[in-house]
Amino acid sequence: MFKINDNYLRLQGSYLFSTVAKKTNAFMEKNPDRKVIRLGIGDVTQPLAPVIIDTLHKAVEEMGHAETFRGYAPDLGYEFLRKAIAENDYRSRGCEITADEIFVSDGAKSDSGNIQEIFSTDNTIAVCDPVYTVYLDTNVMAGRTGEFDTAAGCFKNVIYMPCLAENNFVPELPGQVPDMIYLCFPNNPTGAAITKERLQEWVDYANKNGSVIIYDAAYEAYITEEDVPHSIYECKGARTCAIELHSFSKNAGFTGLRLGYTVVPKDLMCGDVSLHSLWARRHGTKFNGAPYIVQRAGEAVYSEEGKKQLQEQVAYYQKNAKYIFEHLKSAGYEVYGGVNAPYIWLKAPNGMTSWEFFDFLLEKANVVGTPGSGFGKCGENYFRLTAFGSFENTVEAIKRIEAL
Ligand code: MLT
Repeated sequence: MFKINDNYLRLQGSYLFSTVAKKTNAFMEKNPDRKVIRLGIGDVTQPLAPVIIDTLHKAVEEMGHAETFRGYAPDLGYEFLRKAIAENDYRSRGCEITADEIFVSDGAKSDSGNIQEIFSTDNTIAVCDPVYTVYLDTNVMAGRTGEFDTAAGCFKNVIYMPCLAENNFVPELPGQVPDMIYLCFPNNPTGAAITKERLQEWVDYANKNGSVIIYDAAYEAYITEEDVPHSIYECKGARTCAIELHSFSKNAGFTGLRLGYTVVPKDLMCGDVSLHSLWARRHGTKFNGAPYIVQRAGEAVYSEEGKKQLQEQVAYYQKNAKYIFEHLKSAGYEVYGGVNAPYIWLKAPNGMTSWEFFDFLLEKANVVGTPGSGFGKCGENYFRLTAFGSFENTVEAIKRIEAL
């Protein structure tokens, strides 16, 4: 008789956003006359920028002619896109990253889940609490954690790093040294940012202790403050201890198109084995490349016109973030995030649990958010709202919350 991967049985409930969607759909079926506003999952709502649409059209046209048709993409991604990334996201910021250290993929979610495959299952992981659940769940699936301890509300053999209002939602360096450290800044779900100085401490810690940092920079386009780094490679020594994940979803609205990339510097070694070669082997074996037309659209993100149009798109969502933050604050809510990130993290009022507040908001204001406890124990009593709605819906949702 075959056996299953019983690590999956350790997972808690279903994927957070599936639960939120299920509950929302059930409410909508029961109350078809209510206009529900979804500020739950961080999914963009504005159409793709004109330059992206034009580029997609052109690339589709190329696919219709024998001379310009493209089949499988190169393993690591097309050179034109990797060069544009290296130049614009790294060299222009003074980071030494070359095109051949960039692996193009179908998005940061897949990469953040898959990257753990190149590491031993004996490694200990450290995650922020609250955390984007993909980092943790994929390690559970791989068997890198122990059982879920129901009483403690966490998995055994995982180093949880509390991110609370008291530490500005930036974790302390762990006393017990982890092998793999997951960091995401600007942070999902808390919207907190890390200064370059604090991130440098993590890089120094990882280099000193032989840990690897998996750094998710999916929200860097939302940074507004000067001392907040856009990439971990702005810190000295990060090339020997850090892998960085990037997404085109939030800076260019590609949640439906799918495009991302991962940087594995060639200096990142485990003994005499380069992690770059392991990830290249994995990528080549299991992935056949993001579509040509999407990679061309990715290249257009870095054109002069693309930069201008996307700055406007990001500014649109930043305006929503500011609106949510300021109005909820004036209404007496305890609110965080929103300044360098498209997420607003608020305390549920009157001691409500996160899920109680979810139900209350859905029922009374017909607004959907994400319960903080779904991201971990330290997220209990918190709630996340996204700035990715339309401005009109955002204003309407906040008015309804203010009126409660
Ligand atoms: C979120 O809402 O946390 C994100 O949209 C999820 C993702 O990017 O996969």
